[in-house]
Amino acid sequence: MSSTPESLLDLVPVVPVVVLDDLDAAVPVARALVAGGLPVIELTLRTPVALDAIRAIADEVPEITIGAGTVVEPHQAKEAASAGASFLVSPGATPTLLGAMRDTGLPFLPGTATVSEVLAALEHGCTELKFFPAEQSGGAAFLQSISSVVPAARFCPTGGITAASAPTYLALPNVGCVGGSWITPADAVRAGAWERISDLAGEAAALATA
Ligand code: 3PG
Repeated sequence: MSSTPESLLDLVPVVPVVVLDDLDAAVPVARALVAGGLPVIELTLRTPVALDAIRAIADEVPEITIGAGTVVEPHQAKEAASAGASFLVSPGATPTLLGAMRDTGLPFLPGTATVSEVLAALEHGCTELKFFPAEQSGGAAFLQSISSVVPAARFCPTGGITAASAPTYLALPNVGCVGGSWITPADAVRAGAWERISDLAGEAAALATA
């Protein structure tokens, strides 16, 4: 099983967000990311195979830090933890969802998109947050403008970010890393194009953070 990270935002510059339809692709995708230099994966709980995929990766690719993404219902937090997830990510947050994620004992990134949501998360003791959907919610300009207002909050912006736009986010003082699905394109996963995924991971791993 992979180890629990101390700070989710400082592991890698880009967290690959992966939507998997085919359980058989889980381990090869994880190995391709590790080979490219990105030993972190956020496996989204959006498909029926997601929990089994987390289980397979946690068992067979111990060198990757695996997290569960798209945690939207409280029961999913415990299920993901039981499957072997080392961290949790939610697109938004309610007090119930925050409590369920905290109860797992795992580090987690609650989703926020407004200043009020950031303040609510800070009130719950969460200082590392997801900003989602980043591009649609004001992008890097939004994060820059709130950095002096809520300096305690640090973000992993996700949603609509590309290899081209990632550097602008990563240059911000309140951004630790970004998340994105561009490293594991659906067509590459379907085709088993693991080298292409490794190459994309390598490019992302080389991006500099502030
Ligand atoms: C997420 O779950 O964080 C997003 O769906 C990833 O967004 P992207 O597919 O636009 O990168």
